[in-house]
Amino acid sequence: MRAHEAGWAHAEGPRGPSWLREPSDPNDLVTHLWSTTARKSDGVLEVGGVALSDLVAEHGSPAYVLDEADFRGRARAFRDAFADYDVFYAGKAFLSIAAARWIAEEGLGLDVCSGGELSVAERAGFPMARVELHGNNKTVGELERAVRLGVGRVVVDSFDEIERLAAVVAREGLPARVMVRVTAGVEAHTHEYIATAHEDQKFGFSITSGDALEAVRRVLDAPGLELLGLHSHIGSQIFDSAGFEVAAKRVLALHARVATELGATMPQMDLGGGFGIAYTTQDDPAEPARLAAEMSAIVAHECRALGIAEPHLSIEPGRAIAGPAMCTVYEVGTVKAVRLDGGAVRTYVSVDGGMSDNIRTALYDADYSCTLASRVSDAPPVLARVVGKHCEAGDIVVKDEFLPGDVAPGDLLAVPGTGAYCRSMASNYNHALRPPVIAVRDGVARVVVRRETEDDLLATDVGGLE
Ligand code: LLP
Repeated sequence: MRAHEAGWAHAEGPRGPSWLREPSDPNDLVTHLWSTTARKSDGVLEVGGVALSDLVAEHGSPAYVLDEADFRGRARAFRDAFADYDVFYAGKAFLSIAAARWIAEEGLGLDVCSGGELSVAERAGFPMARVELHGNNKTVGELERAVRLGVGRVVVDSFDEIERLAAVVAREGLPARVMVRVTAGVEAHTHEYIATAHEDQKFGFSITSGDALEAVRRVLDAPGLELLGLHSHIGSQIFDSAGFEVAAKRVLALHARVATELGATMPQMDLGGGFGIAYTTQDDPAEPARLAAEMSAIVAHECRALGIAEPHLSIEPGRAIAGPAMCTVYEVGTVKAVRLDGGAVRTYVSVDGGMSDNIRTALYDADYSCTLASRVSDAPPVLARVVGKHCEAGDIVVKDEFLPGDVAPGDLLAVPGTGAYCRSMASNYNHALRPPVIAVRDGVARVVVRRETEDDLLATDVGGLE
């Protein structure tokens, strides 16, 4: 695709990107992009047995709508498919007290990467032995808190941190179980992965430079630190196991070297998260069962070749559990036909949220889809761009979607696949109030995270004038 001098948002013609097909009926749901209970009844979208028009009438818009049965179902599907593994839900994708409780009830562990996420786990009463703490720059305070709470494992990420954690453990008189995060030199994105020798990023210890082996040596030498094994996370929105295969080979080779050179047999290994989901019809994610079969075969084969026992494995899916379980419902405020070069017209549909509740389109050039959620329309489809209400031209929610040509102020639009990294990366840009998260199940809607108020916004603005 030729770059447009005004940026990607101007580059596609009025027919949209090549993968986007004009639907025969724009009222239809593309069901595999939606949570399992989503369906339309007379054009009104229902999730968890709740009509989104009723939900908005009661709770306002925009709102994140969380399909509890879907969220739990996906957690369970990973739990069952990876039955021989420990499965940690990556809370960075979406975390709330309710979500943490569901994860606990479904038998998964929880991956947190900050004191804030740890506090949600604590408030939810999450079993601390099933919590792991990540992060490339954990503070002494975060480490102390994790050790005192007795989290199941701390994934260490730098020599400074190994020293810091050893000191915390000595001071507190409590042990810590540790994994060493290594960089396997594999960077995976969707169907592509890049295997390189240089590892120019902030996470982990390089295997090729020898830092990873040295980190293992230092953990083994630190009294109070119990070494569980190596940890590797290769990227996000991955659709197949090719990248995992290259990473697993490199990490298992190091695992074997630790046994021969340092005389330590590590009982575990963590292969990280990154399993992809379908945001649009372009995406075709694999089922957890297939991923599990492929990953287990890769590890078994490699361990046989190395002549070592298989370590107990763990994974950390975030997006693949939370992402499809949520949609965002917005109300349309304005519709504007904008004439493009060559006379074509693009329909700009402005909704009452935007980059403050979903930064992913602006930040990653991510694709989303959407549907008219409040009525049936007979109008033929038009190619629309759904934009937010923020003071920035890049404030786009859905770059390209076919919507009924009569979409109008007051209509509700719903965007699927917003469960991961939308609420968790939401901001107060333009002093927007972050939307609530409303869980729906069996016809009942429950607020699990309430809408922010202007008092919330102003609570930290102490004036400072005296
Ligand atoms: N484990 C580790 C060590 C991670 O760093 C991550 C994500 C995960 C697990 C979970 O990955 P998932 O299964 O959710 O792909 N904000 C970006 C994604 C950043 C991912 C950071 N690490 C986005 O919106 O796409």
